[in-house]
Amino acid sequence: MALPKSVLLIISGSVASYKSLELIRLMRAEGITVTAILTKGGAEFITPLAVSALTGTKTYTDLFSLTDETEMGHIQLSRVADVVLVAPASANIIANMAAGLSNDLVTTALLATNKPVLIAPAMNHKMWSHPATQRNITQLIADGVQLIAPTAGDMACGETGVGRMAEPASIMHALAALPATGGQPLAGKRAIVTSGPTIESIDPVRYLGNRSSGKQGHAVAQALADAGADVTLLCGEVNLPNPHGVKVVRIHNAESMLAAATAALPADIFVGAAAVADWKPSITAPQKIKKQNVLDILTLEFLPTVDVVASIAQNPQRPALVVGFAAETENVIEHARAKRQRKGCDWILANEVGAALAFGMDENTVTLISATEEEHWPLASKRAIAEKLVSKIIQHFNTAH
Ligand code: C5P
Repeated sequence: MALPKSVLLIISGSVASYKSLELIRLMRAEGITVTAILTKGGAEFITPLAVSALTGTKTYTDLFSLTDETEMGHIQLSRVADVVLVAPASANIIANMAAGLSNDLVTTALLATNKPVLIAPAMNHKMWSHPATQRNITQLIADGVQLIAPTAGDMACGETGVGRMAEPASIMHALAALPATGGQPLAGKRAIVTSGPTIESIDPVRYLGNRSSGKQGHAVAQALADAGADVTLLCGEVNLPNPHGVKVVRIHNAESMLAAATAALPADIFVGAAAVADWKPSITAPQKIKKQNVLDILTLEFLPTVDVVASIAQNPQRPALVVGFAAETENVIEHARAKRQRKGCDWILANEVGAALAFGMDENTVTLISATEEEHWPLASKRAIAEKLVSKIIQHFNTAH
């Protein structure tokens, strides 16, 4: 994966504008030529002087500047760089792009460009989840714009939710994932990802479940889609927004997850990040089991469920790369090694779970185990882990096939 040689960076108005200074520093450190356009809103947060000090060149701000038109017009400006990156992308610029407006230098350049366009949105979580913004994002993705999805967390306004701009390191990763051709490294590859918990019904109101949040699996689905793969995400009940550009199929129990996974074949890549229940009650009561007496003891018998990853690994249409996760509370590596072989996975990502570890958290520590190598990845965000996994997958397909 190669980084582009030059980037036209559009900085729109958001508290996250300051992060674009760090982003410029990272791009310059990689030898990327950066030309910046600062919108009026962006200039409320950072100055053209600060941007120019880091890019080492003129920062553009105004459509009707005559000098700009003679030195470099908006059409040329939008075409000399290899990539156009909008970071941060405010709700306003996203709406302008989706509507195809061209009322200033930025929107005109975005309409005139013939280069890949990436956007890293940043806004209040209510603005991000607003149907208008989501509609605009869907339109932009359909138009071929690449989304670098915002993350969840505390916001400058004091609220919490999805809308924080992706970290500069994640944006660098998205730039690196764009091959020189302007295509996407996993374009043409089909991927199935499982995520979240499965539940097994005891009766119509009770079930056996687990603590999986789906954060890791959803991040993997998003990173695969960002790299151009055609992704089907099979997920249990999670409290997360759907990843963009991904087909989402909701399932409940292990059996329906296997049925959905089998129906989604053939695929090139299978990533089993779901916490699939290992047992189910031997009988699901058709009516609510009644407690007759306060001292009543209920005994349930459990049967093993189907193993989704193992079944997919044995399917005649087995994907070329099958990746499982191993959540363990002890002897993590030994158990994961054995699990990789038992389930017939190519790779297992082993992580320790338990009180305050992994489940529901935004960060994770994993060890990637294959037949030939074991690689420890230090504590990182689940998104960074997903991106690293996808880089490994791209590398695998570039070398193995
Ligand atoms: O639950 P366990 O630790 O065995 O899970 C390891 C891997 O196997 C995970 O990738 C999980 O998604 C998968 N799995 C599965 N079907 C099961 C149990 C686990 O696909 N019934």
